[in-house]
Amino acid sequence: MKKVDLKYTLLITLVIGLILSCTNKNKVESVTNLSSSEVTELVVDFKNTGIKIQPTMYGVFFEDINFAADGGLYAEMIKNRSFEFTNPFMGWLQPNSNKHSLNKNSGIASAIKYTGNPSNKNYCRVKVNNDKGYELINEGFRGMGIHKEASYNLDLSAKKISGNIKKIIIQFIDKDGIVLGDTNIVPTSIDWKNYTAQLTASKTEEKAQLKITFEGTGEIDLDMISLFPVDTWKGRKKGLRKDLVQLLDDLNPGFLRFPGGCIVEGRTLERRYQWKKTIGNIEDREILVNRWNTEFAYKSAPDYYQSFGLGFFEYFQLSEDLGAEPLPILSCGIACQFNTGELVPMEELDPYVQDALDLIEFANGSIDTPWGKVRSEMGHPEKFNLKYIGVGNEQWGPAYIERYKVFQKAIKDKYPTIIIVSGSGPFPDGDYFEYGWEELKKLNTEIIDEHYYKNPQWFRENATRYDSYDRNGPKIFAGEYAAHPKEVEDGPKENNWEAALSEAAFMTGLERNAEVVNLTSYAPLMAHIDAFQWAPDMIWFNNLQSYGTANYQVQKMYATNKGTNLIEISKDGMPITGQNNLFASAVKDIEKNEVIIKLVNTSENLQNINLQFKNQTLTTKGIAIILKSKHLEDNNSFELPNKISPVEKQIDLNGENLETKVAPYSFTILKFKLK
Ligand code: AHR
Repeated sequence: MKKVDLKYTLLITLVIGLILSCTNKNKVESVTNLSSSEVTELVVDFKNTGIKIQPTMYGVFFEDINFAADGGLYAEMIKNRSFEFTNPFMGWLQPNSNKHSLNKNSGIASAIKYTGNPSNKNYCRVKVNNDKGYELINEGFRGMGIHKEASYNLDLSAKKISGNIKKIIIQFIDKDGIVLGDTNIVPTSIDWKNYTAQLTASKTEEKAQLKITFEGTGEIDLDMISLFPVDTWKGRKKGLRKDLVQLLDDLNPGFLRFPGGCIVEGRTLERRYQWKKTIGNIEDREILVNRWNTEFAYKSAPDYYQSFGLGFFEYFQLSEDLGAEPLPILSCGIACQFNTGELVPMEELDPYVQDALDLIEFANGSIDTPWGKVRSEMGHPEKFNLKYIGVGNEQWGPAYIERYKVFQKAIKDKYPTIIIVSGSGPFPDGDYFEYGWEELKKLNTEIIDEHYYKNPQWFRENATRYDSYDRNGPKIFAGEYAAHPKEVEDGPKENNWEAALSEAAFMTGLERNAEVVNLTSYAPLMAHIDAFQWAPDMIWFNNLQSYGTANYQVQKMYATNKGTNLIEISKDGMPITGQNNLFASAVKDIEKNEVIIKLVNTSENLQNINLQFKNQTLTTKGIAIILKSKHLEDNNSFELPNKISPVEKQIDLNGENLETKVAPYSFTILKFKLK
């Protein structure tokens, strides 16, 4: 065919196609390739509705990686607020005390150790020599995000030592030193005293800093210099970053896993996550080097520490806010086996086990119990109603099983109704995985956590992964997974639509197997664009903005359309697991009285589908929620945060059938009310 003829034919086809699509109300609108005439016949059968979709099915995995807590969700804007980092002045600049400054020797700050305070070790002594403008500047977490006209609460502790520092001036500055808001504090006491003040930003700035200058000369001690936006999640003082929690809330998560991830284990046992050190007064929470600090040479973050301002109390409170079941994961006495793999001797395991028992008491104990009392004193006399606890993260081998047994016995003896989550190691197959599964099954473990970071193709090819799992065996927690456009070993990489679409395809397999798969979560959850160690991630943020990736949109579509009971969707009597690059699952929502069908088309072609509904009549009007993008490399970004986001359309049913077209590279949810 000549070129001109081809163009002409395509144009005619397009016009006819457009006319047809406008006149046929049974079709979901689509974008291309209207010429394909092949129709895939699918059957949705309501006969068996006995398998429940657990309310926990789609949850959230939180770990302080990528500056997700300090510098992220925890809205503190001052880095190293209490001078506790290994270098006590990391994050603090003293431009006028260095030898190159014109105003040299205008002052100096030194770190001083408290005597006998193991958790809050240092404070800062500032000596101001003259009126030449000694400055102490905090650089924030890769800067501080300030929004025009928003207000920020500043807190600090101060103690006058000698001379007379009359005023402490506190200012937001931009990179050129231009002042973008200021306030001041008048120190009055020769004993430690807390002072508060408020600054309002005159301009929006992503990388502001906080400058502190002093009026008068003399010596003054400072500690816990803290700055938070007034506008936090639920308006809580010293609370969480509102936009980030909102993104989590919009996911409607069934559970909240915390605090990780490898951070649970620590690179050494000494540096494991210890929940008891993360509660009580903020200033008494002993900081810890974040285990992701220098884990990856190509993404080193030596200034990454854990302040634990977002500790276990705040975690339980957040779970409650989100309506998510808390799912804490605790150290089982093995440090990260990718690092030291340090083992606590069996005869010294007791404190670790006790930590687990005490955590359950902290969450659920009456206010007369020692740990229930602590919770109550922190402002939450009501129980947090903890139902799950995880023992170990990515552990493997006999050392894990040996330790797991001890935890299992102790927890079940004291709290028989608590459900224990065990782990199958870091890989979804292979020796560690097989061994872990075999042993854990013998122990009648209730839930096994599986992790997979694999390429998108793996996800498409593994939509049948759980079809063969024993229905009477342990339930599955797909506790960490993400499709990586490149291999994990290749280092951080972008999110993209191919990965998200492949996850959507794989998730039809999770849903179809809801009888065994009870909890699932994408990982990691969030990342600071200027300070991340691991990618892809579900949510990206900078100091001002945040957005959900295409992967986030996929998670959100599943989680907000999870339904209550599984129903069967099939092609030629078989589940739809990639035939013609089509994947599908279907559920019924008994509370909302609707059917929800998920269709994932991973091909570049538009697909004609005829859905036949059996054993249930539906109302004629329904909706289609469509997530799609033309190119597999596409993704959302700070510039175009909603580039890939769901679009809703109305669809009409014709009797017992729905004829529809599913767009190339798309994830579609169809919903109809039941009659
Ligand atoms: O999600 C990032 C890391 O991946 C987790 O900390 C760990 O459990 C897994 O290896």
